[in-house]
Amino acid sequence: MISLNINGKKHQVDAPDDKPLLWVLRDDLHMTGTKFGCGAALCGACTVHIDGNPVRSCVMPIKAVAGRKVTTIEGIGATPLGQKVQRTWVELNVPQCGYCQSGQVMAAVALLSKIPKPTDTDIDQAMSGNICRCGMYPRIRRALHQLAD
Ligand code: FES
Repeated sequence: MISLNINGKKHQVDAPDDKPLLWVLRDDLHMTGTKFGCGAALCGACTVHIDGNPVRSCVMPIKAVAGRKVTTIEGIGATPLGQKVQRTWVELNVPQCGYCQSGQVMAAVALLSKIPKPTDTDIDQAMSGNICRCGMYPRIRRALHQLAD
């Protein structure tokens, strides 16, 4: 049994301690907002926050997150910044197919919490690991600039 703190709630998980957090979230805890894309830390679809920092949950064994604060897309709206980002995403109609967007939102919140007014370079650096196959990068950038106003 491993004790995980997810979105402010404690969960006892009966899973191998090297099981990736992504699959514990999706399969054991039925929190399916965090998406599987590549499984190799390359696409960003599985991004969650650990202690406020964005991480790829597909390559994060649960033993590495025991006792740390995990935030997923299901919980990010509980913070004022997370709520603001999600509202702006809807308002500006950022997603096309939407599959990568939970990871994009998690990356965006992490960026804005560290750099409230990011430049294009800051955005490129923070968001370039989050792949969008629909190519919604201009909309993501517009949303981040609007959030910085
Ligand atoms: Fe984790 Fe692609 S599924 S980075």
